[in-house]
Amino acid sequence: MAGMRLLILGGTWFLGRALGELALSSGWSVTTFNRGVSASDLPGVQIVHGDREQPEDLKRLAEQGPWDAVIDTIGYVPAQVLTAATALAPVVDRYVFVSSVNVYTGWPNEPLHDESPLFDCPPDADATFGADLGYAGQYGTLKAGCENAVMQAVGQKRAIVLRPGVILGPHEYVGRLTWWLTRAARGGQLLAPGPADRPIQPVDVRDVAAFALARATGQDYGSFNVTAPMGHATFAELVDTCIGVTGAGTQPVWTDPDWLVKRGVQQWTELPLWRTHRGVWAVDSSRAIAAGLACRPLCDTVSQTWAWMTAGGSAITGEGEAGRAADHGISAVRERELLKTWLQDN
Ligand SMILES: NC(=O)c1ccc[n+]([C@@H]2O[C@H](COP(=O)([O-])OP(=O)(O)OC[C@H]3O[C@@H](n4cnc5c(N)ncnc54)[C@H](OP(=O)(O)O)[C@@H]3O)[C@@H](O)[C@H]2O)c1
Repeated sequence: MAGMRLLILGGTWFLGRALGELALSSGWSVTTFNRGVSASDLPGVQIVHGDREQPEDLKRLAEQGPWDAVIDTIGYVPAQVLTAATALAPVVDRYVFVSSVNVYTGWPNEPLHDESPLFDCPPDADATFGADLGYAGQYGTLKAGCENAVMQAVGQKRAIVLRPGVILGPHEYVGRLTWWLTRAARGGQLLAPGPADRPIQPVDVRDVAAFALARATGQDYGSFNVTAPMGHATFAELVDTCIGVTGAGTQPVWTDPDWLVKRGVQQWTELPLWRTHRGVWAVDSSRAIAAGLACRPLCDTVSQTWAWMTAGGSAITGEGEAGRAADHGISAVRERELLKTWLQDN
């Protein structure tokens, strides 16, 4: 909707960048808020540099308002989100918070729907809350507290919570699809985690952005799981498309998942996106789909991510969230050893 004013907290990496690009191309006036240290701001946005951890910076940001909506992509600590949302509440109509399916206590062990039980976390918790839960448990717990912080600051009828599952696409920095593409481009025999027909439901970053932007202008509120529909694609489609677009004649060798687990292959990281837990790709996003979430085919996400990579696109790297790519991908030596044993035994 042309003429609308949007504030994006973040806006220079992956989802925030896709949001900014889409909003600008839709005729929105876009302001982004980040520190200006890790990546370039999008051309055409109004830039406010500041730190989400500094209340004075958030106060200075609020003075630049009003906006029709804010989309917050950078909330990880409830107390910080509470400060930001409280400062912005008088100058935004709608507050769209980007959360995660990790807020559900059942993820990734059980199938999930929009009303599944959530972690319990107060809206003013600090970064130490849930430290005993491990990385994923603490991340999900704190995200649940961030959702509570937004609700407390702006009220239920102005808050929209998006809970994406795995997001893929151009500018991805976690090292999931980008690792599979890089591996496929190296050629040879590729260790593929079976079963080949395992259903997966990653969502394209640009489809999340379109859905978020529509929520920013819409009338509805509440929470939405944001994943592609269950059964959207299979692991074989992911691997085969990576092999097809990279064109190195790589041959997948499909291996048994229990065999990989027994050999200590780390799920989710050593072989990115591979996880045997029954709930990981069983997230019901029918509420979002009914509200208009449209998901492009996985082959488009894969080919366009490869196009971005080969055009010189490189992910953000560094500390914290941006440092996660370093944890992803099996080493070539270990992959060769595992393949040798598998092929001897099978
Ligand atoms: N990736 C997935 O599969 C997935 C799945 C589910 C949910 N999510 C959620 O989706 C969101 C992902 O967003 P994104 O990383 O793509 O966002 P983004 O908005 O594209 O990038 C992160 C932004 O945060 C800014 N930033 C970092 N530290 C800051 C600080 N102290 N103060 C102000 N700005 C700061 C960075 O810029 P500067 O460094 O210059 O400040 C950058 O602009 C997250 O909320 C994540 O939890 C992701």
